[in-house]
Amino acid sequence: MKLKIAVLPGDGIGPEVTNESIKVLNCLAKKFNHEVEMNHGLVGAIAIDHYNDPYPDETHKLCLESDAVLFGAIGDPKYDNDPKAKVRPEQGLLKLRKKLGLYANLRPTIVFDSLLGMSPIKEDRITGTDILFVRELTGGIYFGERGRKNDDNYAFDTCQYSRDEIIRIAKMGFEYAQKRSKKLCCVDKANILETSRLWRETVQSMEKNYPEVKVSYEFVDAVAMRLIQWPSSYDVLITSNLFGDILTDEASVISGSIGLMPSASVGSNNALYEPIHGSYPEATGKKIANPIASILSLSMMLDHTFNLKNETNLINKAVENSLLKGITTPDLSKDHKSYATDEVGDYIVEFILNN
Ligand code: IPM
Ligand code: MG
Repeated sequence: MKLKIAVLPGDGIGPEVTNESIKVLNCLAKKFNHEVEMNHGLVGAIAIDHYNDPYPDETHKLCLESDAVLFGAIGDPKYDNDPKAKVRPEQGLLKLRKKLGLYANLRPTIVFDSLLGMSPIKEDRITGTDILFVRELTGGIYFGERGRKNDDNYAFDTCQYSRDEIIRIAKMGFEYAQKRSKKLCCVDKANILETSRLWRETVQSMEKNYPEVKVSYEFVDAVAMRLIQWPSSYDVLITSNLFGDILTDEASVISGSIGLMPSASVGSNNALYEPIHGSYPEATGKKIANPIASILSLSMMLDHTFNLKNETNLINKAVENSLLKGITTPDLSKDHKSYATDEVGDYIVEFILNN
């Protein structure tokens, strides 16, 4: 098969972890006879340095011409500490999501048996946890009108959703629930927010089309609590953009490290695959970043965009094996020797070649 991939390593640890995924992809291509074309583009702070634009047109063109995008991370502390900066790396990611129409962000939270002891939550609470967040990604308060008034002394951000935006994300949630354990949780704040009431009303009206799916409607604050108390009681959750951003970071600690969690951002035509951990600037260049979230994002790409099940299963098996054998970066090496980012990647490549 021919795979044409745009590679956007971005900032911080983005390039280091993406390198490991590239190694894994090249070795799978060799093993399964695929022809892979990878083209690199700039995004985030590094793109601002070169073009004064966190998502330059060249990069957009590259993404449009590719089957899928492999994304690293964006963000740089020099912008975080300067709230007045007009051009910011994060704008690049928002622009990219919007321009590519990536309206759904799929974030699985899974627990690896070999890492049960690494979670801050008790083992019996998390055993068997397998959650899929379906986060809305191109609307809500991230994209609503915002600004300042009264001589800069008053700020506002607005949350807006149309019924159609809710229908398309809810449809995806229902479809995943149907394929999985037929449980769907609609996360909202319908006791307060009008947008949440529209979410709830819309999802309720869709229930009749999916009679086998059992839907629960829960307030976001209660979900934040229950996610920690009984994570294994959830299956598929649909959320607005901001609620999903917050809950998926919370959920990432359940597995033991945010360095394990992949994601896919999908739309009608394009898809982007990205670890959820962000740029982690303190770790840049130290070879301590966990490459597994990026490697599992590649696995999601081979599954969702290319439907290559054998390749996907082999990556997942290699990752599980590396965790089982304790070939892990420092975030997961509490009781044993830790390995460098590229050593973990090498182990996974080796496993793939030999299995
Ligand atoms: C995420 C990140 C982004 C978001 C930032 C970097 C713009 O936190 O993908 O969860 O808030 O969506
Ligand atoms: Mg986030």
